[in-house]
Amino acid sequence: CGIIGYTGPRSAAPILVEGLRRLEYRGYDSAGVALIDPGRTPPMVVTRCEGKIAALAARLEAEPVSGTTGVGHTRWATHGRPCEQNAHPQRAGRVCVVHNGIIENHSRQRAELESRGRVFRSETDTEVVAHLIDEIYDAGPDDLIAAVREAISRLEGAYAICVVHDAHPEQIVAARHASPLLIGLGGEHGEHGLSETFVASDVAAILEHTRTVVDLDDGDIALIDPSGILALLDDDGQPVERGRRRIEWSPLAAEKQGFKHFMLKEIFEQPRAVRDTLIGRLPQTRADADALDFGNLAGLDLATLAERNKITIVACGTSWHAALAGKYLIEQLARLPVEVDLASEFRYREPIVREGDLVLAISQSGETADTKAALQEAQRLGAVGLAICNVVDSSIARAADHVLYTHAGPEISVASTKAFTTQLTMLTMLAVHFGRQTGALADARAGALLDGLREMPVAIDAVLGVQAAIKIIARRWVKARDWLYVGRGLSFPVALEGALKLKEISYVHAEGYASGEMKHGPIALIDESVPVVVLALEGPGYHKTLSNLEEVRSRGAKIIAVATAGDDQIGDVADDVILVPKVDPFLQPILASVPLQLLAYHVADLKGTDVDQPRNLAKSVTVE
Ligand code: G6P
Repeated sequence: CGIIGYTGPRSAAPILVEGLRRLEYRGYDSAGVALIDPGRTPPMVVTRCEGKIAALAARLEAEPVSGTTGVGHTRWATHGRPCEQNAHPQRAGRVCVVHNGIIENHSRQRAELESRGRVFRSETDTEVVAHLIDEIYDAGPDDLIAAVREAISRLEGAYAICVVHDAHPEQIVAARHASPLLIGLGGEHGEHGLSETFVASDVAAILEHTRTVVDLDDGDIALIDPSGILALLDDDGQPVERGRRRIEWSPLAAEKQGFKHFMLKEIFEQPRAVRDTLIGRLPQTRADADALDFGNLAGLDLATLAERNKITIVACGTSWHAALAGKYLIEQLARLPVEVDLASEFRYREPIVREGDLVLAISQSGETADTKAALQEAQRLGAVGLAICNVVDSSIARAADHVLYTHAGPEISVASTKAFTTQLTMLTMLAVHFGRQTGALADARAGALLDGLREMPVAIDAVLGVQAAIKIIARRWVKARDWLYVGRGLSFPVALEGALKLKEISYVHAEGYASGEMKHGPIALIDESVPVVVLALEGPGYHKTLSNLEEVRSRGAKIIAVATAGDDQIGDVADDVILVPKVDPFLQPILASVPLQLLAYHVADLKGTDVDQPRNLAKSVTVE
């Protein structure tokens, strides 16, 4: 999603619409603006519509709204279908709110507000924020920033919000909590020399007006008007100063937030993407083994399922690799048998599906034709269809009986990165949830896995920190024509995915293999020109992997090992070592995928290929 706000002497609507256009790459299923026109009663006018920004622009052209203060939003649905009613801004009484992120405790807040007589018009978690602020404001002195502060003290989750109020026609309140938000300063700092102030979730939205920004910190709340920042409070409600930053990027570079390619940006977004996927399902504070919230899924009768022997996962491409990892996770943690199939194969092999079986369809886009057809075929045979999708309200999400959304945000790069690690995150949570329900997973074990998931964003950050070392390895091997990737157990799907990443974007031949299978074929390919990427993480398969590694090394292979921090043996057998933090073996796939993404990215970048849009590939394949 994207947020922009403007207050100054100019007409706000065109500035907001243009800013939203620059944010459109982040989300595009509905959009809206709230403009304050003091000449009207009530002064605030909300214009919203489903679809792209062009539709909003057309509506504003047909029914112009004047006003020099306003906020705008382009939405990428998380709660509630994409439609006009659920678009932002959300209004309650005299308040309008635009919001990025997720309010974790929205249903409880909503119930409380409803019990106090508040009437909701949308399915969004955002409307809860608008009602809370409106209610608190009306009960107190006319202090907008205080009302927002009080309201957000009752919210849990990760979000950025902007608030406007009928009684404060030249003001915007901006609050940030683990979702980016910045203020843009006009006046002497701006391109137009006008007394005007901006707020945006992403600098791309305001770059043509000003290059001087103030980044809000987590917990900050700011009150702005055309003269600049009137008040800035930190998490404790204390006034703070935040430094100014001058942006030198071009507008296109700004959409990529300074990264050279969307793929690299998306790789670096993974700590946020994984955190957003956990939020809402895994409370960040409660440490009990049954803390996972899978809502209506609880109705699934897993005991019967286990008896009938059938969970099938269908997917394509990268999502199929997540599916393979899902099998290892669900079988080992929940002791439920799982079958995995390529969606394009499943339908044509007369699959055995019985009434009440569970079919899980995994798809980033939710539009892959083969995956959708496989899901529908299984449903036709009597299965319950559960989808794991990234795009809300996509075809597969709509076709399924239940949907679990990964909140990776829009993935622009054709080669999937953050969608994959968020799928793994979701599957891990699901496996733990199933394990608790079947009784296969003990309290302490479940608790430890959930703690590990909570810490995952920090661990991913640590891996991103070794990018420079990975780039050096990429440079060393950029001329290689063939690569092998090997792993065992949960590292096997990671190896497949690592190889796929490399071949997709660098056009180099790469093959993923289960470590133990090397000796049954691929070992014949090995000589000193073939780098072998070995996933040699600490855990049950470690020593076996070391032996496999010796097998290939003695045949001249050059080894790039991904190993666990603290491993003092691996350096003796591998030519290059990439260390990742120690985590529970069941959580390793999420973490170990990241260095392989970076390796593929840097090889491709050094080769100068079209990283974001590799030849012959499409982001979503809607033909069978
Ligand atoms: C295309 C993309 C892949 C993706 C696959 C499945 O081939 O290029 O990156 O993994 O489709 O897409 P889905 O949206 O169903 O996950």
